[in-house]
This record gives sequence, C-alpha cells and structure tokens, in this order.
Amino acid sequence: MALYSYKLAPSVLSADFGDLRGAMDICKKGGAHWIHIDVMDNQFVPNLTIGPPVVKSLRKHTDKFLDVHMMVVNPEKLVEPFARAGADGITFHIEATDNPDEVISLIRSTGKQVGISLKPGTPLSAIEPYLDKVDLVLIMSVEPGFGGQGYLEGSSEKIKELKLRLNEMCLDRVIIEVDGGVKLNNMKEIVDAGADVLVAGSAVFGEQDPIQTIKDFYALI
Ligand code: DX5
Ligand code: ZN
Repeated sequence: MALYSYKLAPSVLSADFGDLRGAMDICKKGGAHWIHIDVMDNQFVPNLTIGPPVVKSLRKHTDKFLDVHMMVVNPEKLVEPFARAGADGITFHIEATDNPDEVISLIRSTGKQVGISLKPGTPLSAIEPYLDKVDLVLIMSVEPGFGGQGYLEGSSEKIKELKLRLNEMCLDRVIIEVDGGVKLNNMKEIVDAGADVLVAGSAVFGEQDPIQTIKDFYALI
C-alpha cells in the first residue's frame, strides 16, 4: 500500500526542443501527472526559453496539467498570454515583482491555479504574507536558469519548514512543489520533507528510456 501520493512534473526544459510533441507522448506513456514548462526571459535568469505560442502548440498535443513556471521580470505582462495559450497553472517569482498581490489577482482572474516561487537564497518569510492567497508554492532547490544542476543542501529543511508553517496556518490545501536537482536517488527524502509535486528535467529526459524512468519515479515509493 503506497503511503505517499505525489505528482511528477517532467520539465520539458531537458527535452528535445525539436520534438516537443514527442516529449508530450513520453509523459503520456510514462503516466506523469503534470508537465512543467520553464519560461525564461534572459533578464530574471540568464537563459531564454519558451513563450505563449509554444504553450499553445503543446496544448494541442496533451490533456495533462500544464504547469507554467515564469522566471521573468514583469510577470504581470505574461499572465493573460499564458492563460490564453492553455496553461493550467501559472507560477511567478516573488523576487520578480514589487506587487505580488497584483500578480496573484491577475492569475486568479484567469481562473488558473496560482503559484508563487522563491529562489534558494530567499527566505520563506518573503512569501508568508501571500500563503493564504495562492494554491501552490514552488521551492527552487537550484538557482533558476538551467537544468542539470545538483539539489542544494538546505532545500529539504526549507520544505519541512514550509510544510509546518502551512499546517500552523491551516493551509494544508496549498501544494508544495520542488524544482531542481530532483533525482530517483533523492526523491524519497524530498517527498518525506513534504513535497506534493516533484519537477524532474534531466532525471527524466536525460535518460535513455524516459518513459520507464517516469514509471520508476512512481514505483519507488
Ligand atoms: C531551472 C528550472 C527547472 C529545471 C530543472 O531553473 O526551473 O524546472 O528544468 O531541471 P533538473 O531537474 O534537471 O534540475
Ligand atoms: Zn522550473
């Protein structure tokens, strides 16, 4: 009997950008719950990736939950375009805006799931005023910008602290998502700490058999 229920969100950042339809197929065949889409603007992070037109195309090839992670400055400008493109959840960074309430309201007004994220160096106190207004907190366990980095020490403590705080605030409905350096050999520690959704990029798409790897993630615990 499984003691845990968590979702895996393969990150297409590590997929073949020339065959994103194939990546959707891999996620379907492996049985992944969500698909994680890393949006980078070369300002908030030093990398440039996916915009709303790509999400619109992906939407045609999957019925899975499209989890858009915006690593961009001025996130308010992109909320509606991503919502229209077919995102199911939209997450912004607390460090990227002076007006988190405005971004939260905007995402809320589109009817999409509202997510807030923080970098490894940002303390939980920075997002605490918004916890009762969001559906999801995305804890970055690497510096945002690139796939394939190692899981940062201290991330599991941060997850535990957030889990406790949400519990104290009677906000157990808020989903905890963890992003960066998640592998088959550390996922149990991360789920034990309190994660509900695990993002995995290189650990899935960097493998010879990504379909089997997704299944392995679900089989492990
Ligand atoms: C990094 C992105 C991650 C990335 C994770 O800024 O937010 O979603 O795809 O990649 P891995 O799982 O390889 O660390
Ligand atoms: Zn991400």
